[in-house]
Amino acid sequence: MAPSSPSKSPLRWLAALLATSSLLPAAHAQYYKIDTPDEIRQSARTLAYDMMLYYQGNKSGEIPGILPGPPTEHKGDYYWWEGGAMMGTYVDYWFLTGDPSYNEVVKQGMLHQVGPNADYMPPNHTASLGNDDQGFWGMSAMLAAENKFPNPPEDKPQWLALAQAVFHTQAAPDRHDETCNGGLRWQVPPTNAGYNYKNTIANACFFNLGARLARYTSNQTYADWAAKTFQWMWDVEYIDHKDWRVYDGGHVEHNCTDINKAQFSYNAALLLHGSAFMYNYTNGSEIWKERIDNLLTGILRDFFPDGVAFELPCEGRQGACTADMLSFKGYVHRWMSVVTKVAPYTADKILPVLRTSTEAAVKQCTGGETGRRCGFYWSGGVYVDTAVDKTSGAGEAMNVLAAVSSLLINEAPPPVTNETGGISKGDNNAGSRSRGPSTPLAPITTGDRAGAAILTILILGSAIGTWSWMSLGD
Ligand SMILES: *[C@@H]1O[C@H](CO)[C@@H](O)[C@H](O)[C@H]1NC(C)=O
Ligand SMILES: *[C@@H]1O[C@H](CO)[C@@H](O)[C@H](O)[C@H]1NC(C)=O
Ligand SMILES: *[C@@H]1O[C@H](CO)[C@@H](O)[C@H](O)[C@H]1NC(C)=O
Ligand SMILES: *[C@@H]1O[C@H](CO)[C@@H](O)[C@H](O)[C@H]1NC(C)=O
Ligand SMILES: *[C@@H]1O[C@H](CO)[C@@H](O)[C@H](O)[C@H]1NC(C)=O
Ligand SMILES: *[C@@H]1O[C@H](CO)[C@@H](O)[C@H](O)[C@H]1NC(C)=O
Ligand SMILES: *[C@@H]1O[C@H](CO)[C@@H](O)[C@H](O)[C@H]1NC(C)=O
Repeated sequence: MAPSSPSKSPLRWLAALLATSSLLPAAHAQYYKIDTPDEIRQSARTLAYDMMLYYQGNKSGEIPGILPGPPTEHKGDYYWWEGGAMMGTYVDYWFLTGDPSYNEVVKQGMLHQVGPNADYMPPNHTASLGNDDQGFWGMSAMLAAENKFPNPPEDKPQWLALAQAVFHTQAAPDRHDETCNGGLRWQVPPTNAGYNYKNTIANACFFNLGARLARYTSNQTYADWAAKTFQWMWDVEYIDHKDWRVYDGGHVEHNCTDINKAQFSYNAALLLHGSAFMYNYTNGSEIWKERIDNLLTGILRDFFPDGVAFELPCEGRQGACTADMLSFKGYVHRWMSVVTKVAPYTADKILPVLRTSTEAAVKQCTGGETGRRCGFYWSGGVYVDTAVDKTSGAGEAMNVLAAVSSLLINEAPPPVTNETGGISKGDNNAGSRSRGPSTPLAPITTGDRAGAAILTILILGSAIGTWSWMSLGD
């Protein structure tokens, strides 16, 4: 996933823009209706169709599973991880609406990207392989197991085993070290820029998978890792001890105390979602309830002003939201809706907000030639043309699809476990075939001089790489 460094000079351009509406195209009437379950299903169907137009992966000569990209190779706006996030969005779309139209496309994409060791580390994407990127694919595989998405053929890796593989590679010793007292680094290969950054999203994905694997398999080992990882994020104060704001991360050379305080909505929402699974797995423990309550209060306060999703660190400043950030609202809606299934006492607080937010989302889907294209600025109430701000791409379409589909959560069954109807087969050895592109850092001995020099160069190189991206927004 690309670095999450927000611009620091607010332009308040959008407010100005909206005040001078002559810059806006003639408004179309609202296209989408979401008052009844039938209207919601119909709207979701059209949104799913339109979103698929961004996906080229099932055309001949194209690569299944990914959206056009990556930007570093000038192939399109989207990094590898976002294809995984898209697959998850369609696994939920099918689960919530019952429409199987895209199931084959999704299954093909999810299986094409598993990599040679069936753990979502395909060599094509080593250059952008963060623990979070791998984690997003793993979470979509986990979701397929929880939603009873049709199983892959028997000679192919199974959904639960894929989620386990991702988790097991991330729990292996070579991904953990003593800097900052623990935690996962952002990047997997030590040569990648950002290897010296320990961030919330990498650890939140790992935590989230651990919580869900614990609930699905009833294996306490996963729960122990999840609890330990949450505790680490708390101890380094990536979660603010006073008001539960969730921050982005810090660097190992500063013992993770140089905290980048950007608050991205998906970090907080992923911790909430994982905490709800831990709450459920522990039969309603007080400690996880307290975490749910505090995170939820913070999320509603910071990311839903007036009950409408708002991407705090970048929204409202022209060009400040990257393609990654332009997709976060959809995950937040989907994860929060599932929280109401595994921690049902939260439903009264969450569901009304998901509704007001989705109403605002569809209100601004009046763009393009179809008159139903969606943008990103939900609280503004009007579609902002691409000529003004490039905010109507795949992420923006996926957000609204996710929000509308998730309105059907009340009718849906809860995520299954192995004991309550699950049909996906696991594998306790999944992920053991590769231990990542990195090898464990052995103690340096006199025989290792050349190796040590190379290591120093690598660390210096990655520090410089990281410094330049962290400074981009200054
Ligand atoms: C790709 O998938 C879409 C959606 O299911 C379908 O309409 C289209 O025909 C598919 N294209 C190919 C070449 O299979
Ligand atoms: C890796 O990239 C090459 C070149 O773009 C492509 O042909 C191949 O299908 C990709 N492999 C996977 C598993 O996506
Ligand atoms: C690093 O921070 C942790 C708390 O996160 C603290 O326990 C530890 O002593 C610090 N280490 C150094 C070398 O400052
Ligand atoms: C939750 O309750 C069930 C049924 O009483 C029990 O089998 C299970 O061990 C409990 N789980 C935990 C983590 O305490
Ligand atoms: C756990 O989730 C199930 C649905 O899977 C729900 O019925 C149950 O009430 C939840 N447990 C708690 C403690 O909320
Ligand atoms: C999962 O459930 C199946 C069928 O109910 C059972 O055969 C299997 O042993 C269970 N697996 C685990 C890991 O509990
Ligand atoms: C629990 O999961 C871990 C990691 O996959 C595995 O090593 C262990 O054997 C599992 N325990 C049981 C009882 O299945």
